Amino acid sequence: MGYVVTIDGPAASGKSSVSRELASRMGWKWLSTGAFYRGLAYVANEEGVPLEDEEALVKLSQSPIWSIAMQPERTEVIYRDQKVTDEVAKDQVGLWASRVSALPKVRTSLLKNQRDCEKNSHGLVAEGRDCGSVVFPQALLKVYLTADQVQRATRRAQDLGMSVEETTVSQRIRDHQDSTRKSAPLQVPEHAWVVDTTHLTLAQAVAMIEKRIRESMKE
Ligand code: DC
Repeated sequence: MGYVVTIDGPAASGKSSVSRELASRMGWKWLSTGAFYRGLAYVANEEGVPLEDEEALVKLSQSPIWSIAMQPERTEVIYRDQKVTDEVAKDQVGLWASRVSALPKVRTSLLKNQRDCEKNSHGLVAEGRDCGSVVFPQALLKVYLTADQVQRATRRAQDLGMSVEETTVSQRIRDHQDSTRKSAPLQVPEHAWVVDTTHLTLAQAVAMIEKRIRESMKE
Protein backbone atom coordinates (compact mmCIF):
# COMPACT_ATOMS: atom_id res chain seq x y z
CA MET A 1 0.00 0.00 0.00
CA GLY A 2 1.29 3.47 -0.92
CA TYR A 3 1.23 6.66 1.09
CA VAL A 4 -2.07 8.55 1.36
CA VAL A 5 -2.47 12.17 2.45
CA THR A 6 -5.99 13.57 2.84
CA ILE A 7 -7.06 17.20 2.54
CA ASP A 8 -10.62 17.89 3.67
CA GLY A 9 -12.49 21.13 4.19
CA PRO A 10 -15.46 23.29 3.19
CA ALA A 11 -16.24 24.54 -0.33
CA ALA A 12 -13.52 26.81 -1.79
CA SER A 13 -11.13 26.43 1.14
CA GLY A 14 -8.30 25.90 -1.35
CA LYS A 15 -8.33 22.09 -1.21
CA SER A 16 -8.02 21.52 -4.94
CA SER A 17 -5.18 23.96 -5.59
CA VAL A 18 -3.23 22.89 -2.52
CA SER A 19 -3.70 19.14 -2.99
CA ARG A 20 -2.94 19.24 -6.73
CA GLU A 21 0.31 21.12 -6.14
CA LEU A 22 1.29 18.81 -3.28
CA ALA A 23 0.73 15.73 -5.43
CA SER A 24 2.86 17.25 -8.16
CA ARG A 25 5.72 18.03 -5.77
CA MET A 26 5.61 14.59 -4.20
CA GLY A 27 5.31 12.83 -7.60
CA TRP A 28 2.08 11.25 -6.39
CA LYS A 29 -1.40 10.87 -7.86
CA TRP A 30 -4.10 13.43 -7.14
CA LEU A 31 -7.78 12.72 -6.58
CA SER A 32 -10.61 15.17 -6.14
CA THR A 33 -13.30 12.96 -4.59
CA GLY A 34 -15.93 15.65 -5.27
CA ALA A 35 -15.68 14.58 -8.94
CA PHE A 36 -17.57 11.38 -8.03
CA TYR A 37 -20.49 13.34 -6.55
CA ARG A 38 -20.41 16.03 -9.23
CA GLY A 39 -20.17 13.40 -11.98
CA LEU A 40 -23.07 11.39 -10.60
CA ALA A 41 -25.25 14.50 -10.16
CA TYR A 42 -24.45 15.68 -13.69
CA VAL A 43 -25.13 12.28 -15.26
CA ALA A 44 -28.37 11.91 -13.28
CA ASN A 45 -29.56 15.23 -14.64
CA GLU A 46 -28.63 14.27 -18.21
CA GLU A 47 -30.31 10.87 -17.87
CA GLY A 48 -33.46 12.27 -16.24
CA VAL A 49 -32.89 10.56 -12.89
CA PRO A 50 -34.37 12.60 -10.00
CA LEU A 51 -31.78 13.76 -7.46
CA GLU A 52 -33.90 12.31 -4.64
CA ASP A 53 -34.24 8.80 -6.12
CA GLU A 54 -31.66 7.02 -3.98
CA GLU A 55 -32.06 3.55 -5.49
CA ALA A 56 -31.81 4.83 -9.06
CA LEU A 57 -28.78 6.95 -8.14
CA VAL A 58 -27.05 3.94 -6.57
CA LYS A 59 -27.61 2.01 -9.80
CA LEU A 60 -26.37 4.94 -11.87
CA SER A 61 -23.31 5.31 -9.65
CA GLN A 62 -22.06 1.91 -10.90
CA SER A 63 -23.13 2.37 -14.49
CA PRO A 64 -20.43 2.00 -17.20
CA ILE A 65 -21.80 5.09 -19.03
CA TRP A 66 -19.58 7.34 -16.93
CA SER A 67 -16.20 7.16 -15.22
CA ILE A 68 -13.50 9.13 -13.44
CA ALA A 69 -9.87 9.49 -14.60
CA MET A 70 -7.14 10.89 -12.37
CA GLN A 71 -4.97 13.35 -14.26
CA PRO A 72 -2.21 15.54 -12.77
CA GLU A 73 -4.12 18.74 -13.55
CA ARG A 74 -7.66 17.62 -12.81
CA THR A 75 -9.88 14.69 -12.01
CA GLU A 76 -11.70 14.12 -15.29
CA VAL A 77 -15.31 13.02 -15.58
CA ILE A 78 -16.11 11.04 -18.73
CA TYR A 79 -19.73 10.55 -19.74
CA ARG A 80 -20.72 8.61 -22.85
CA ASP A 81 -17.13 8.88 -24.17
CA GLN A 82 -17.02 12.68 -23.76
CA LYS A 83 -15.02 14.65 -21.19
CA VAL A 84 -17.58 16.68 -19.24
CA THR A 85 -15.18 17.99 -16.60
CA ASP A 86 -15.82 21.67 -17.45
CA GLU A 87 -19.59 21.26 -17.20
CA VAL A 88 -19.24 19.32 -13.97
CA ALA A 89 -17.16 22.12 -12.40
CA LYS A 90 -20.05 24.59 -12.61
CA ASP A 91 -21.53 26.03 -9.44
CA GLN A 92 -24.99 24.57 -10.12
CA VAL A 93 -23.55 21.07 -10.40
CA GLY A 94 -21.82 21.62 -7.04
CA LEU A 95 -25.22 22.26 -5.45
CA TRP A 96 -26.68 19.12 -7.04
CA ALA A 97 -23.61 17.15 -5.94
CA SER A 98 -24.12 18.32 -2.39
CA ARG A 99 -27.70 16.97 -2.53
CA VAL A 100 -26.84 13.52 -3.89
CA SER A 101 -23.91 13.27 -1.47
CA ALA A 102 -26.33 13.44 1.47
CA LEU A 103 -27.83 10.06 0.51
CA PRO A 104 -26.16 7.30 2.58
CA LYS A 105 -26.51 4.50 0.02
CA VAL A 106 -24.99 6.71 -2.66
CA ARG A 107 -21.99 7.40 -0.41
CA THR A 108 -21.53 3.70 0.33
CA SER A 109 -21.77 2.85 -3.34
CA LEU A 110 -19.09 5.39 -4.34
CA LEU A 111 -16.76 4.48 -1.49
CA LYS A 112 -15.18 1.46 -3.16
CA ASN A 113 -14.59 3.42 -6.38
CA GLN A 114 -12.83 6.13 -4.37
CA ARG A 115 -10.70 3.65 -2.43
CA ASP A 116 -9.69 1.89 -5.65
CA CYS A 117 -7.93 5.12 -6.71
CA GLU A 118 -5.21 4.38 -4.20
CA LYS A 119 -4.34 0.99 -5.74
CA ASN A 120 -1.05 0.60 -7.62
CA SER A 121 0.16 4.04 -6.65
CA HIS A 122 3.26 4.99 -4.72
CA GLY A 123 1.36 7.87 -3.18
CA LEU A 124 -1.96 9.67 -3.38
CA VAL A 125 -3.24 13.06 -2.24
CA ALA A 126 -7.03 12.86 -1.91
CA GLU A 127 -9.23 15.86 -1.25
CA GLY A 128 -12.89 16.14 -0.26
CA ARG A 129 -15.14 16.24 2.78
CA ASP A 130 -14.66 12.81 4.38
CA CYS A 131 -11.35 11.58 2.97
CA GLY A 132 -9.61 11.47 6.35
CA SER A 133 -12.63 10.36 8.37
CA VAL A 134 -14.16 7.70 6.09
CA VAL A 135 -12.45 7.04 2.74
CA PHE A 136 -8.81 6.77 3.88
CA PRO A 137 -8.82 6.51 7.69
CA GLN A 138 -5.32 4.97 7.51
CA ALA A 139 -3.84 8.11 5.88
CA LEU A 140 -0.28 9.06 6.79
CA LEU A 141 -1.32 12.68 7.33
CA LYS A 142 -4.80 14.22 7.56
CA VAL A 143 -5.17 17.92 6.88
CA TYR A 144 -8.30 20.02 7.37
CA LEU A 145 -8.12 23.24 5.34
CA THR A 146 -10.25 26.19 6.22
CA ALA A 147 -10.49 29.90 5.38
CA ASP A 148 -12.93 32.64 6.32
CA GLN A 149 -16.17 32.77 4.40
CA VAL A 150 -15.59 36.04 2.54
CA GLN A 151 -12.18 34.88 1.40
CA ARG A 152 -13.63 31.57 0.14
CA ALA A 153 -16.50 33.22 -1.73
CA THR A 154 -14.08 35.69 -3.33
CA ARG A 155 -11.73 32.92 -4.51
CA ARG A 156 -14.62 30.95 -5.97
CA ALA A 157 -16.02 34.02 -7.73
CA GLN A 158 -12.63 34.61 -9.36
CA ASP A 159 -12.31 30.96 -10.43
CA LEU A 160 -15.81 30.74 -11.92
CA GLY A 161 -16.25 34.31 -13.23
CA MET A 162 -19.26 34.89 -10.98
CA SER A 163 -20.12 37.67 -8.55
CA VAL A 164 -19.13 37.33 -4.90
CA GLU A 165 -22.83 37.69 -3.96
CA GLU A 166 -23.74 34.64 -6.07
CA THR A 167 -20.91 32.46 -4.76
CA THR A 168 -21.68 33.49 -1.17
CA VAL A 169 -25.26 32.23 -1.49
CA SER A 170 -24.39 28.86 -3.05
CA GLN A 171 -21.47 28.39 -0.66
CA ARG A 172 -23.71 28.94 2.38
CA ILE A 173 -26.23 26.40 1.08
CA ARG A 174 -23.50 23.86 0.35
CA ASP A 175 -21.66 24.34 3.65
CA HIS A 176 -24.92 23.89 5.52
CA GLN A 177 -25.96 20.77 3.56
CA ASP A 178 -22.49 19.20 3.74
CA SER A 179 -22.00 19.74 7.46
CA THR A 180 -25.49 18.88 8.72
CA ARG A 181 -26.15 15.68 6.73
CA LYS A 182 -26.35 12.49 8.78
CA SER A 183 -24.03 10.42 6.63
CA ALA A 184 -20.33 11.33 6.80
CA PRO A 185 -20.84 15.07 7.38
CA LEU A 186 -18.03 17.52 6.78
CA GLN A 187 -16.00 17.49 9.98
CA VAL A 188 -12.45 17.80 11.21
CA PRO A 189 -11.15 14.19 11.16
CA GLU A 190 -9.66 12.85 14.37
CA HIS A 191 -5.94 13.70 14.62
CA ALA A 192 -6.22 16.07 11.65
CA TRP A 193 -3.99 19.10 11.35
CA VAL A 194 -6.16 22.21 10.87
CA VAL A 195 -4.62 24.77 8.50
CA ASP A 196 -6.34 28.15 8.10
CA THR A 197 -5.42 29.53 4.66
CA THR A 198 -7.14 32.94 5.05
CA HIS A 199 -3.82 34.75 5.32
CA LEU A 200 -1.63 32.25 3.48
CA THR A 201 -0.64 32.22 -0.17
CA LEU A 202 -0.99 28.96 -2.08
CA ALA A 203 2.81 28.56 -2.05
CA GLN A 204 2.97 29.05 1.73
CA ALA A 205 0.19 26.53 2.43
CA VAL A 206 1.79 23.96 0.13
CA ALA A 207 5.27 24.44 1.60
CA MET A 208 3.99 23.98 5.17
CA ILE A 209 2.11 20.80 4.34
CA GLU A 210 4.87 19.33 2.17
CA LYS A 211 7.32 19.75 5.04
CA ARG A 212 4.95 17.92 7.36
CA ILE A 213 4.40 15.08 4.86
CA ARG A 214 8.14 14.54 4.49
CA GLU A 215 8.58 14.53 8.28
CA SER A 216 5.74 12.00 8.67
CA MET A 217 7.33 9.71 6.07
CA LYS A 218 10.52 9.52 8.19
CA GLU A 219 8.66 8.55 11.37
O1 DC B 1 -15.27 19.50 -3.45
P1 DC B 1 -16.40 19.70 -4.45
O2 DC B 1 -16.89 21.12 -4.50
O3 DC B 1 -16.04 19.21 -5.81
O4 DC B 1 -17.61 18.79 -3.89
C1 DC B 1 -18.90 18.84 -4.44
C2 DC B 1 -19.89 18.26 -3.43
O5 DC B 1 -19.67 16.86 -3.28
C3 DC B 1 -19.80 18.82 -2.01
O6 DC B 1 -20.63 19.95 -1.82
C4 DC B 1 -20.21 17.67 -1.13
C5 DC B 1 -19.84 16.44 -1.94
N1 DC B 1 -18.63 15.77 -1.47
C6 DC B 1 -18.78 14.89 -0.41
O7 DC B 1 -19.86 14.78 0.15
N2 DC B 1 -17.72 14.17 0.03
C7 DC B 1 -16.52 14.31 -0.55
N3 DC B 1 -15.48 13.58 -0.09
C8 DC B 1 -16.34 15.22 -1.63
C9 DC B 1 -17.42 15.95 -2.05
